[in-house]
Amino acid sequence: MSAAGVLRSIPVALPSFGDAEEQALLAALRSGWVSQGPRVAEFERNFAEYVGAPQAVAVSSCTAALHLALVTSGIKSGDEVICPSLSFVATANAIVYAGASPVFVDIDAATYNLSPQAIETAVTSRTRAIVVVHQVGMPAALDEITQIANRHGLMVIEDAACAIGGEYKGSRIGRPHSSMACFSFHPRKILTTGEGGMITTADAALADRLRRLRQHAMNVSDLARHNANTVVSESYDEVGFNYRMTDLQAAIGLVQLKRLDEMIARRRWLAQRYTSSLSSTSWLISPKEPADCRANFQSYMVRLRNDAPVTRNQLMQKLLDRGIYSRRGIMAIHREAPFRSEYWDARLPLTNRVSDTTVILPLFHDMTEEDQDRVVDALKSVGMVGVPRG
Ligand SMILES: Cc1ncc(COP(=O)(O)O)c(C=O)c1O
Repeated sequence: MSAAGVLRSIPVALPSFGDAEEQALLAALRSGWVSQGPRVAEFERNFAEYVGAPQAVAVSSCTAALHLALVTSGIKSGDEVICPSLSFVATANAIVYAGASPVFVDIDAATYNLSPQAIETAVTSRTRAIVVVHQVGMPAALDEITQIANRHGLMVIEDAACAIGGEYKGSRIGRPHSSMACFSFHPRKILTTGEGGMITTADAALADRLRRLRQHAMNVSDLARHNANTVVSESYDEVGFNYRMTDLQAAIGLVQLKRLDEMIARRRWLAQRYTSSLSSTSWLISPKEPADCRANFQSYMVRLRNDAPVTRNQLMQKLLDRGIYSRRGIMAIHREAPFRSEYWDARLPLTNRVSDTTVILPLFHDMTEEDQDRVVDALKSVGMVGVPRG
């Protein structure tokens, strides 16, 4: 409540930065090294150690990470890549950047992640890879999906944009469960560097190629040239990209990484509090972790049952009327112009239903219990007659 007695608005997400991030950013600025340099290298080492991967390669975004992962997996024009439609559009865009066609498959009703059974039926002679998304930080069925991939000789790439710090069967997402896992540091994610991404892998030679490709395929890094005491001339051995992260971003990332476990613990606590507070609201379905996984609760997404007293959009409007921001649940990529077709629409009934009936509630590190109670009260009042507003 503000001093004037007006309820302040509650955002759906908010990054958490403190003095340590400010100091780290200032130190990077003052060092004179603001492009990809020593802080990016340190961020990569610490990130690899955190997730338990031998290698981590920092890039400018998760979309760039996915593109590089597909290119280095040999995906090319004419290939098919299986992925969910229930994801952010970048999952499919990256497949198109590589020249391939996304083949959308439906989801599992409990986790909203790729359904292993649906994958099996979508494999054709042109299928080369599966992009598995850990949606809103809920780990996907990696073992089942990897088994199918191995049976058909397919690469598996994890779109772990939302999944930092999540755990699958006791190990962190990013520890090699697949050939590569791709993370995002966009401000909607738990660890943010403004924009940014990371690829983890067990393969050192692959990591070297990723590092070259992210900087125009130059065969020596700026840092190596800078540190050399003999003249170094670089070469460009293939067509590369400018997908570099800056040291300014990495400086923030290094601090956020130290705070990550604490930030995830806070989210898990708030998520649990939502779940217990909403347990009597029978028309809402709360998220559930599979028994062998730990979600990071990057987002708290609820689904409206068929008997809900309002539609999803009406619910979002009712929340907004009380100064509470929410977001529609995950989009269905096959409904957007570049991917739209009746063919996909007929094959993805659960994706359509979940996309139409889910909503992301406010959840962020500095959310207070009072904020959360306001959201819960607003949800509980929906459908009741004569409940006073405000
Ligand atoms: C599942 C998924 N994949 C990819 C991306 C793209 O990440 P970035 O914005 O870092 O490119 C996002 C971003 O929200 C995402 O949610």
